[in-house]
Amino acid sequence: MIAEHIKELSPFAAQFAADVRAGLLRPAQKELPSKYLYDATGSMLFEAISVMPEYGLTRADERLLRRHAGDIVRLLPGPLAVSELGSGSGKKTRCILEALCGREAISYYPIEISATALASCERELADIDCVSILGVEREYLEGLREVAARRVPGAHLLVLFLGSTIGNFDAGADCRFLRGVRETLISGDSLLLGTDLVKPLDRLLPAYDDPTGVTAAFNLNILARINRELDADFNLRQFEHLARFNQRTSSVEMHLRSKKAQTVTIPRAEFMVRFVEGETIWTESSHKYSVSELSNLAEASGFRCAAQWIDEEWKFAESLLMAE
Ligand code: TRP
Repeated sequence: MIAEHIKELSPFAAQFAADVRAGLLRPAQKELPSKYLYDATGSMLFEAISVMPEYGLTRADERLLRRHAGDIVRLLPGPLAVSELGSGSGKKTRCILEALCGREAISYYPIEISATALASCERELADIDCVSILGVEREYLEGLREVAARRVPGAHLLVLFLGSTIGNFDAGADCRFLRGVRETLISGDSLLLGTDLVKPLDRLLPAYDDPTGVTAAFNLNILARINRELDADFNLRQFEHLARFNQRTSSVEMHLRSKKAQTVTIPRAEFMVRFVEGETIWTESSHKYSVSELSNLAEASGFRCAAQWIDEEWKFAESLLMAE
């Protein structure tokens, strides 16, 4: 029986099954890796979150880039190639690419693990003259190494890491990741880093728990995905979305809470899991930075913060970090 289940799985599904199993069988806090939130449905639900009035983050990021694209590119002498970690919809990147277009032809390398996301970003940006889009379907650092290897001698690399994705790394992993980025770069390259900042809880919590329930749907979809892809029998109505702020780590933590004692079977991962009433599965944390923490982070990872722009309406920072 066991061998049969395993044989049927694609390498991706086998990894998904192994990760779900490891996360849900943990003796203490159950967890699911947040990257699995983003299947086709999850990605569309996240796009919907990003236009919710309560979720000020994406609009702040876009406002800053729209307002300051000219200032940003002026600080970066050409010739330049642009790479982006997680291309998203491509909407924010447009401002930067258009600002650069005024002076030179640009190669743009979006790095994404999702082929669907790559394709939609290519469609979104296809009309900009003088930009060649060269999608890289890889994990972030692996993709960046590949882009760096294709560097034209004398050209510098501008890496974009927007949307505060860095805040979704575990504590300490943000710095390790930025060090990894720094190691693939050479002196004179740069990183434009978007980060959400600490703000009052009455603004922060609704951003992660909007009253129409789009965020709840986005979070619950990870259980629906386990049902679809691993034949599990999660009853989504017996779980609820929970967002809470952890003062100690300065992060919003997202959980799925079991409304009652229940057992769920996940045949394609070959296990059953019991939940007690009120028990949660941790799905994602979103760290909120302070400005001083950001400069320490930049320095500790081998960058110098050359300039920073902060949105006043929704505290969010765009930091231009130079590799020295
Ligand atoms: N990167 C997003 C953020 O930290 C992810 C996100 C937004 C999220 N809303 C969520 C993740 C709800 C899980 C649940 O802001």
